[in-house]
Amino acid sequence: MKVLVAVGSKYGSSREVARTICDALESQGFDVDLSDAADVRSVTPYNAVILGSAVYGGLWRRDASALAKEHREALKARDVWTFSVGMENVVVAGQPKDEAYGIAESIGAREHRRFAGALDPEKLNIGERALIRALDPPLGDFRDFADVRMWAQNVGAELREAAVS
Ligand SMILES: Cc1cc2nc3c(=O)[nH]c(=O)nc-3n(C[C@H](O)[C@H](O)[C@H](O)COP(=O)(O)O)c2cc1C
Repeated sequence: MKVLVAVGSKYGSSREVARTICDALESQGFDVDLSDAADVRSVTPYNAVILGSAVYGGLWRRDASALAKEHREALKARDVWTFSVGMENVVVAGQPKDEAYGIAESIGAREHRRFAGALDPEKLNIGERALIRALDPPLGDFRDFADVRMWAQNVGAELREAAVS
């Protein structure tokens, strides 16, 4: 069974979450491709797609949301899971909390999952650093890779079930 794990990531922390999902599925025997969302031309070679993105300003990265929009019908015809990577305390008043819930619904995702991300001010541009300074959230790497692996294993188990039923 061929699975695509596609991700929108700016500074790499979500890409590592995607890689962990990919590795966990591979170790369950699935044939998995890992790709930046921007590089995906078609989802039709895949039986299942796991699409995720970092959240910035309440929005998915543009490449991930564009993939969901442009391939909506093909995604709806497949088993799809979605995930977001974000920080609960980086929320500006008035912005959407996480547009991914709507995206997940629009492509018929079986589940949408949020994972904690990482925030390293050293990596940010000036504007981003100013925003983070103003919001003053906890800084550091809050990713829980054991949790990510567990989720991926559950996805794998559901996929296997779907394949036999
Ligand atoms: C400028 C900026 C805005 C952010 N906005 C949000 C947000 O609205 N919601 C959220 O949950 N996380 C937000 N985050 C946290 C990022 O999603 C988190 O750092 C994530 O791990 C980044 O992923 P990446 O390294 O793959 O780009 C923001 C981070 C920055 C630097």
